[in-house]
Amino acid sequence: MEETQFNKRAINLQVPGTRKFSNQVKEYEDGVDLTLGQSGFATPEYIRESMIEAINQNKLRYTHNRGLIELREAISAYNKKRFDVTYDAETEIIVTNGGSEAIDSVLRTILEEGDEVIIPCPTYLAYEPIATLQGANTVLIDTTKTNFVLTKEVLKQAITPKTKAIIFNYPTNPTGMIPSLEQMNELVDVLKDTDIFILTDEIYSDNVYDGEFHSFMEFPEVREQLFVINGLSKSHAITGGRIGYILAPPFATEQVTKVHLYNSVCVATPSQYGAIAAFTDETGPGILAKMNEAYKERRDFTYKRLRDMGLPVELPKGAFYIFPIIAEYNKDSFEFASELLEAEHLAVVPGRTFSIYGEGHIRLSFACSMEELEEGCNRLERFLLTYNK
Ligand SMILES: Cc1ncc(COP(=O)(O)O)c(C=O)c1O
Repeated sequence: MEETQFNKRAINLQVPGTRKFSNQVKEYEDGVDLTLGQSGFATPEYIRESMIEAINQNKLRYTHNRGLIELREAISAYNKKRFDVTYDAETEIIVTNGGSEAIDSVLRTILEEGDEVIIPCPTYLAYEPIATLQGANTVLIDTTKTNFVLTKEVLKQAITPKTKAIIFNYPTNPTGMIPSLEQMNELVDVLKDTDIFILTDEIYSDNVYDGEFHSFMEFPEVREQLFVINGLSKSHAITGGRIGYILAPPFATEQVTKVHLYNSVCVATPSQYGAIAAFTDETGPGILAKMNEAYKERRDFTYKRLRDMGLPVELPKGAFYIFPIIAEYNKDSFEFASELLEAEHLAVVPGRTFSIYGEGHIRLSFACSMEELEEGCNRLERFLLTYNK
């Protein structure tokens, strides 16, 4: 077989920087991995127990393509309570294989060759490749000068007659930034009354440490054009459970369901039972609050250490990541991360992974244990002291 036999767009995809470095660091016995956005905590026991119970009761059959109705009702109730919005369990919710499949299914349902997708950057690495696979053109917007938040002026300039969608991700991976309610209002003002789809990936909305999180769901003027993407991977320390979901109006859900069902039929049934427990168990909120307290402490620790090392860095408001500037040492973040790995056996993610506008930064995840973070910071500090600028 020749490489030319494959889809050219697939051939052109790159393995993300997150995986590259986390795979390489495993080769070192004393390696420290600060790359992956997954919690150092165990998945809460009540979730694991309900998954085990589902297996023991042989709940291992296909479910409805959109997921168990009890789970969709639990998702609906959670969002009602949190944001005072109503999404109908029957017609407006699809349970997906993590946030990843939610992003993929929505983008594949709406995008066609030549469409433009606006993506404020730096941002999560999956949006651009999925859009590109569809033949769409990504319009990457630099938010580094506006504290990593898209402003209405820049948004207005980016819109063309070909704009099909815009993708928001607040709190943002890799910066942890969140817009103010006023900034969101301004963005909504520009987007309402257009036929531009809004994807809002809110997978870190339960991991917020400062201020209040507002969802685009709170703006009824854009409800008909809005796809909300969320899931339990991050909030409930269950990345391997593959539980995500989409909220969208019925006419949109109907279209996305077809793409979702041909891709995966449904989410693994025991995971769906685990998710019902995640949304309904009374002990859940207390456990999440404890985990968030620990992440906040780790964030504050890492922020202080980075500043003390002399690296310019913003304090993230949410998510698991911190995004210092290393440009003074090396303008090429891949080179910097490779040298760091080789010298100190410490893996971080090069900023360019999150688009060209992430260049000059590295991303550290603070979702791991405090011991790993401390050791990681010690190694980074030592590395900087000896770095030949
Ligand atoms: C912004 C964002 N969206 C989606 C995902 C994927 O989540 P999941 O593991 O639920 O597929 C991630 C994972 O890192 C992410 O950072």
